[in-house]
Amino acid sequence: MNRAADVIVVGAGVIGLAVAYELSRRGARVRVLDARGEGQGASQASAGMLAPHTENLDQPPLWRLGVRSLDLYDGFVDGVCHASHLDIEYRRCGSLHVGTSEAQMEDLRGTADRLKAAGVSCELLTAALVRELEPRIAGDVAGGVLVPDHGYVAVSDLMRAMSAAGSAGGMRVDVERVLRVGASASGVRVETQTEVLHAPAVVVAAGSWTSRVAVEGDAALPVRPVRGQLVQLDWPVSPLARIVWGSDCYLVPWTTGALLVGATVEDAGFDERATTAGVHDLLASACDLLPSAWQAGFLGVRVGLRPATPDGLPVVGASLGVPGVYYATGHYRNGVLLAPITAVLLADLVLGQGEDSALASFAPGRFTGVRS
Ligand code: GLY
Repeated sequence: MNRAADVIVVGAGVIGLAVAYELSRRGARVRVLDARGEGQGASQASAGMLAPHTENLDQPPLWRLGVRSLDLYDGFVDGVCHASHLDIEYRRCGSLHVGTSEAQMEDLRGTADRLKAAGVSCELLTAALVRELEPRIAGDVAGGVLVPDHGYVAVSDLMRAMSAAGSAGGMRVDVERVLRVGASASGVRVETQTEVLHAPAVVVAAGSWTSRVAVEGDAALPVRPVRGQLVQLDWPVSPLARIVWGSDCYLVPWTTGALLVGATVEDAGFDERATTAGVHDLLASACDLLPSAWQAGFLGVRVGLRPATPDGLPVVGASLGVPGVYYATGHYRNGVLLAPITAVLLADLVLGQGEDSALASFAPGRFTGVRS
């Protein structure tokens, strides 16, 4: 049935739902369409790490955007919990990036210098201090960098709560594959597998599947899937107090005792299978970093396809091909971190409430070309 919506969001991953929630919070009638339902792509596999100072340091526009998003996180989670009446596991427990060789320590010293120069709170630690903070870490650790501001959010909790909060504001999520988006007399026409819809605005937030949504007049966005496998281990009590990064994996300790070990980075097209090699490598890396992982329970493996762009930056902004169409995609390894800032900046754009200058670095036109 063709119900009236002010905005149709294509994609119900963490970015699509965050944008939809924010628009709905500001009073828009929002309908979300996704071929597989809520959070079935990269979002369901994410460890939910919020660590811009570790992950994005080499890409200044992304780093700045990540820092802005991290700054929004407390308020974002509070707002979603309040509107949904649901709890979200969210902790700013800090992260510890450890090195095991002189070369790695040299890199970590450089990281600490850059962070301090940028005014970010961080501490370069000796091996003894690392072991004091995290006694279960392997004995060959040479030192580390502590970033107290980092944290994580349980993505499944966040998705459930955003969906409930949006629904309370009238947002609808339907399982529906969108094939094509084009201009129409009344705004934007959305052709799905079963119906044709119209709305004043459409946001394409389809992650790795973005290029399968044809937007008239825009070249297909070169967003490609990069597979990430992540294993989940189980302890009676969490073995770590904070996120720990090694050279080959990261460990995210939940308060429940579950430990997430991530992640592979693989070009495997749209193949969403877990592999023997992926699980083997993650377990071996986890046990190198945290020897007691050999004794942990094995809860399972998750697989997601991260949406990557050729320049490693997300695509957030207006389509050149169809007025009223916007993109919020290509967030690669940072979808969860960047969800709040993407939602705010895109809602501003869609509702005509201003265009943040940061968006210049993420404009769709760098890939979609000029209007045909
Ligand atoms: N942001 C962590 C990952 O993509 O593995």
